[in-house]
Amino acid sequence: MSVLPLLSLTASALALAVVAPLRGRGPLARPHAGARAPRALCLEPAFEQLDVRPDSLGAPCDFTSLGVRIPTVLAALEAQNISTPNALQRAAFAPLASGRDAILHAYTGSGKTLAFLLPLLEQLDATSREPQALILCPSRELAFQTYRVAESVLQHSALRAGVAAGGANAARQMEKLRKERPQLLVGTPGRVCELAFEWRKLKLQRVRHLVVDEVDDALQSGNLDATVRVVASFRDGRPLQIIFASATADTPMVRRSAVQLLDSPLMIRLGRGEGNGGAPELPQGIAHGLYVLPAQKHLEAIRQLANSEPKPRCIIFVDSPHRARIICEKLASSYNIDAAPLYGQQEREQKVDVMRKLVEGKLHFVVSTEMGARGLDIPGLTHVVNLDLPTDHQHYVHRAGRTGRAGANGTVISVVAPNRVFVVEKLAKKLGVQLESVSFKGGKQVAAPAKRARPSATSAKRSPRTRSVGGADAQRPRAKPVRDRGASEAVPTGRREDRLMRSPRKARP
Ligand SMILES: Nc1ncnc2c1ncn2[C@@H]1O[C@H](COP(=O)(O)OP(=O)(O)OP(=O)(O)O)[C@@H](O)[C@H]1O
Ligand SMILES: [Mg+2]
Repeated sequence: MSVLPLLSLTASALALAVVAPLRGRGPLARPHAGARAPRALCLEPAFEQLDVRPDSLGAPCDFTSLGVRIPTVLAALEAQNISTPNALQRAAFAPLASGRDAILHAYTGSGKTLAFLLPLLEQLDATSREPQALILCPSRELAFQTYRVAESVLQHSALRAGVAAGGANAARQMEKLRKERPQLLVGTPGRVCELAFEWRKLKLQRVRHLVVDEVDDALQSGNLDATVRVVASFRDGRPLQIIFASATADTPMVRRSAVQLLDSPLMIRLGRGEGNGGAPELPQGIAHGLYVLPAQKHLEAIRQLANSEPKPRCIIFVDSPHRARIICEKLASSYNIDAAPLYGQQEREQKVDVMRKLVEGKLHFVVSTEMGARGLDIPGLTHVVNLDLPTDHQHYVHRAGRTGRAGANGTVISVVAPNRVFVVEKLAKKLGVQLESVSFKGGKQVAAPAKRARPSATSAKRSPRTRSVGGADAQRPRAKPVRDRGASEAVPTGRREDRLMRSPRKARP
């Protein structure tokens, strides 16, 4: 491999570059994969693309006519009131069921899980009791959620789903896998590595289909080494279908990895074609609010939200587990609001309990780290609050996407100090979303369109249709950004903003 392209890759991508040739030229190579151009030299690769519009449903279609043939799966979908495949699922089924490699780039809550799961199930052999398909998820919660989705469609079927994800006892998990011998395995890269390579108990020899969900996250440091190790274990020349999925799958890093690991992938893009400079799209049902308050009053926004009608169900995002715990304590002591923290290092039982209470409406406020932003499907979530701002537009997309799923409505409220408004405006501009000022009057949430803030000639074309923020604080002229005293409660550090304000890093040749 040439040294030049390696210089342009990040440390984590470097590991991929080491593994990737295994698939192209070494033992990972598939019979038809040899005739490609030198892969590592291709930095902005183009793939065959299938554009899918959310409303382009065409003729009426159900899952049977789509090609789902397993009667128990059809019955299970029906029982869950999922009777009509959506546009993404219609478009993705045939290519994925034919075994083609693909990248699913489709906004949050658009049903990517069933879009890749159903065509996979059609390709599994129920008579063989070894894992034939592996779905890798970067977090334990997402792995368990995906496992539950698989279990729910496979009940009464001859096919079985199993889970190998951290946070639960590894020995018991392995014992269950040994007994049930599932054909479909859902796991986190770390636990799969532990069971397959350290314990050498989990057999992956018959895996022919690999899904990397939240692929851009899976290829970040922290997950990358284990992800790469799992993928590298398939380097025995077997035919292997690989599917990448994410609402933010179209990044340079994912594209480069796809060139390395996938064979002539089909990029399936779900979007309304609004063309905001290639930035990921968000579901239409999400309103994007901005609530401007002095930093020391940010929790006041939560109090007002808590007292509003209809009663909200909300995830509040903050920077760290410590912040999550502190905010919960403050909400309880100052405002008598019952809120529970959610973060990665928590006991699994605690996390399950928090999520269950939120879904059942027994808890209305969860204060979460970034861990809660990826993939989690929480029916009935009405609000996402950014109490600490996301680091970039992709993090905004995933946080926002916890609400407004599957065609539902939802609201994101970014609570910011006056001198931080520009950060949210910058995000909105990047994503092409309209910001509205939020306030609460008489226990009702009000989203007020207002005149645009600081329009600039250059932003006219890709305008986020930003409106200036209403309310007393918001109307104040914005001061120069200064260090915000008391900002520890809600304001991101200068370093985070610096990152946000920098233009996206370009791949060096
Ligand atoms: N055809 C369908 N009809 C009705 N509901 C559906 C359909 N397909 C999926 N759903 C529902 O849509 C919700 C979101 O699905 P899913 O979690 O797969 O979204 P996603 O695209 O993976 O989102 P994210 O990017 O956040 O991971 C789920 O509650 C799921 O049950
Ligand atoms: Mg998902």
